[in-house]
Amino acid sequence: MEGIVNDIDTHSVDRIIERSGADPEALIGILQDIQAEWNYLPLPVLKQVAEKLDVPYNRVWAVATFYEAFSLEPRGRHHLQVCAGTACHARNGADIIRVFEEELMIDAGQTTPDGEFSLECTHCLGGCAVGPTVMVNEVYYGRMTRQKVLELLDSLRKGKEIDS
Ligand code: FES
Repeated sequence: MEGIVNDIDTHSVDRIIERSGADPEALIGILQDIQAEWNYLPLPVLKQVAEKLDVPYNRVWAVATFYEAFSLEPRGRHHLQVCAGTACHARNGADIIRVFEEELMIDAGQTTPDGEFSLECTHCLGGCAVGPTVMVNEVYYGRMTRQKVLELLDSLRKGKEIDS
């Protein structure tokens, strides 16, 4: 496979694979590096990985779909995961999801047209005691309120860090 696939330079994918010595045991790490670089794993790239590692495509696909860290669809630069688990739901978690949807003008499961934000409802994030919880690119935010959602989005838009 040569050139550009889904905006991804296949040579860059090759370089990531070669860094691991094209070791099939490094499959998860390779997929993590690709996900980190482009925010998703396009199907043609999964095929490329399978060919280069000489492992069955089904195995690569199974790994890519098993772990929540991986996405087969493009994610925003800021990947927002809003907990829809029971404890967060009992603390008005549904309102938090709604505020994100209103502010970003997308539904959960979608990415903003500029590619900046993707919004996902997820199962328990493991922070029930400080729910409702939100995770942004692996950083947790607890005790979310409408005001905190607005502040979080504002800081992300401005590229600033805020306390989680
Ligand atoms: S239910 Fe939301 S963090 Fe556990």
